[in-house]
Amino acid sequence: MSTNNKTISLRLPALHPGQQRVLNESRRFNVLRAGSRFGKSTLARHIVMGEALRGRPACWVASSYKFLLPSWREVTELLGAAIISTSQEEKRVVMGGGSIDFWSADAGAPAGEGRSYSVVVIDECAQLGADLERLWTRSLRPTLADLAPSSSAWFLSTSKAASSYFSTIFAYGQGEREDWKSWQLGTADNPYIPASELDAALMPSCPPLMIIGGTSAGAGRSSDLRYDCISVTRHL
Ligand SMILES: Nc1ncnc2c1ncn2[C@@H]1O[C@H](COP(=O)(O)OP(=O)(O)O)[C@@H](O)[C@H]1O
Ligand SMILES: [Mg+2]
Repeated sequence: MSTNNKTISLRLPALHPGQQRVLNESRRFNVLRAGSRFGKSTLARHIVMGEALRGRPACWVASSYKFLLPSWREVTELLGAAIISTSQEEKRVVMGGGSIDFWSADAGAPAGEGRSYSVVVIDECAQLGADLERLWTRSLRPTLADLAPSSSAWFLSTSKAASSYFSTIFAYGQGEREDWKSWQLGTADNPYIPASELDAALMPSCPPLMIIGGTSAGAGRSSDLRYDCISVTRHL
């Protein structure tokens, strides 16, 4: 049986030092509370894409469909030709053994229920309010059982997160539980945000990273952008 392989080069945004530190210090369960524009969603996309590229099943949970779409678009654009199949309806990408499922917590079906994942990311979990505990303990935590102990979870939220369960898991990561880690970081820990813009009232809506014709573009700050170039082999 002959096999056709195609090598695909991908350019994924390189992590900034604050994001890299969080990743280096991560444990099985991770709680990141950081200011708006710190780079939480960018880090979370890096995590799910990395997992899928290693042939493992990843899960992204957004508080609502509206919050799901930007990351869905970014991931499908960045992974490009490495993707074997895309289901717009199910918001699922498959790539050589790996996959990323995108769920929105406001949809009818409980996010992740019945599936098996190696990583679960919950973006902007403060917006889930009191629903976070139920979603995590009843629907998402069980999806990590099959691939334990190498499966992991990430809870990301702005500093405004006030839900009592978010505070509970944040405390787990401050030494209460061995397999949890939590961080409190600010927008200023993102070196790509100019100091002059750090006043929240002045914060512009920053454009997303884009790859156009193989070159990087970043709306006037392209010289700041760094990419990690990786090659993946796609079996045809
Ligand atoms: N590692 C990075 N390299 C370049 N730009 C980044 C990086 N991380 C974040 N950014 C940029 O910073 C801004 C905020 O990132 P985002 O992930 O949306 O933050 P958050 O989810 O914390 O609000 C975006 O414009 C994003 O493109
Ligand atoms: Mg975000």
